[in-house]
Amino acid sequence: MELINIKLVVPILIWVLMILFSSSFSNSLDDNFLQCLSQNSNSTNTDFVFTQQNTKFSSVLESTIINLRFSTSKTRKPFAIITPLTYSHVQSVVLCSRRFKYRMRIRSGGHDYVGASYTSTYDDNVPFVVLDLKELQSIKIESSKKTAWVESGATIGQLYYWVSREGKNLGFPAGICPTIGVGGHLSGGGFGTMVRKYGLAADNVIDAKIVDVNGRLLDRKSMGEDLFWAIRGGGGGSFGVVVAWKVNLVQVPEKVSVFSVSRTLEQGGSDVFNKWQYVGHKLSKDLFIRAIILATTNGAGQRTVQVLFNSMFLGRAQKLLETVKQSFPELGLQENDVSEMSWIQSILYFNNYPKGTSIDVLRDRKPDARRYFNGKSDYVKEPIPKERLQDVWRWSLEIDNPVLIMEPHGGRMDEIAETRVPYPHRKGYLYNIQYFDSWDNIEASEKHVSWMRRIYENMTPYVSKNPRASYVNYRDLDLGKNRNNTSYSEAMKGWGSKYFSNNFKKLAMVKAAVDPDNFFYSEQSIPPLTMS
Ligand code: FDA
Repeated sequence: MELINIKLVVPILIWVLMILFSSSFSNSLDDNFLQCLSQNSNSTNTDFVFTQQNTKFSSVLESTIINLRFSTSKTRKPFAIITPLTYSHVQSVVLCSRRFKYRMRIRSGGHDYVGASYTSTYDDNVPFVVLDLKELQSIKIESSKKTAWVESGATIGQLYYWVSREGKNLGFPAGICPTIGVGGHLSGGGFGTMVRKYGLAADNVIDAKIVDVNGRLLDRKSMGEDLFWAIRGGGGGSFGVVVAWKVNLVQVPEKVSVFSVSRTLEQGGSDVFNKWQYVGHKLSKDLFIRAIILATTNGAGQRTVQVLFNSMFLGRAQKLLETVKQSFPELGLQENDVSEMSWIQSILYFNNYPKGTSIDVLRDRKPDARRYFNGKSDYVKEPIPKERLQDVWRWSLEIDNPVLIMEPHGGRMDEIAETRVPYPHRKGYLYNIQYFDSWDNIEASEKHVSWMRRIYENMTPYVSKNPRASYVNYRDLDLGKNRNNTSYSEAMKGWGSKYFSNNFKKLAMVKAAVDPDNFFYSEQSIPPLTMS
């Protein structure tokens, strides 16, 4: 009897001691880390630090998470989330995280497709902190010089709002969804309705401020041209914390014209899409027409594909009608399909805000709806053969709610050398495909993820090859992820060449020069490459 008791009691005692020891150990780590932060930032106020014990921890962590796949009870949570109020806070978080050997995740708008800015898929128990820049969101515009300094924690919607307030003819070329964070978006490229006229958001960056691995605050001059090159499209989270960007603003007309016209397969959608493949990238630079593949129900109650042509033209409606009639008559665009509005209103139009919505929604950074979602990307260099399109439609209809967004390149994108910034998909790329799928219950995740893998596999013959190009801002862990300090050559075989093509080598060399110990490490951060 006594023996049984001892057998039971000893493991329980050990377990209790372990819990006590580990929690006091982690509490003392917490305390030391907090002390380090307050010492380094010369401030006793650490209100911007939310450890797991803080009652606001969950709400701060969740505040910009929109992909519910990375917000479950199984998702790894940071040991603390820190929302710096000044650049010196950012500097101390970098220094203290290094000192205590914590990993660090950098978050601006939280839109990363795989949650790389706020979780970790490693089960190695290395604690990590999230450095969330949402409080750093100031925007200063110098309209006479057509430039702006924007902090990383601002959304692109806020940037658009304040730019439009400075002048009816000022705009900025970046992505379509206004809640994307400036920090992650500019780090990976950034394209939207003005990509054919002005290139990527990253093409229009002229200076930046970054906190490097040694906690130094550097600008373009002090960081040097190689690092400045790498942060404009080399993907976030590899080189340091970019706290602010100086961008060139661009000219937009007082009135732009927009339309959304859809054709089901029964209405000849396949033929119209086929023609779009040949002309979308060759049209006037002022004209952006994207094609979105969706599922709908036809007049006979059957499921079918609908191709939505969604467009913005930097000019008046009459000119748009003439241009489309001449270059893309198959679309059958009519006068009453087209609306004129200001550039800033076109941002709301593209995001399906009801007519009459105030542009203030952009300034007020209303969070996006939260859902489970998944994405992948491809690029097309040769039109998909017309006779094979029916296969693409069939594969799309294998899931309830398919969305294939095809966005044209060409125009300005053809003129920029593929080495100018790390985003390499330039001349010769007709359009980008984003496979996007969302759903509303976790049990369905496997079905949806495997559909996307299947259609991606099926598309292999029709998309770019050697490498099969992908867009880093639509991050995809199926392309590979770093494990135990993955080498440059391993990464190059997977996501490295797909995202960056021949620019990957230079990115890895810059990484070795600025962060040789790989402190800024995550699933797809750039590995350091040292040339011996
Ligand atoms: P988030 O904060 O999640 O960061 C993304 C990555 O950058 C992470 O690795 C993070 O660590 C790193 N990072 C963030 N801030 C950093 C900083 N200050 N310094 C260094 N690293 C930093 N893209 C596009 O080109 N055109 C489009 O129209 C759209 N539309 C769109 C719609 C929706 C609904 C989503 C979810 C996404 C898009 N995107 C897009 C993709 C978008 O550009 C991409 O997800 C960006 O990385 C998002 O930037 P955030 O700052 O929001 O992400």
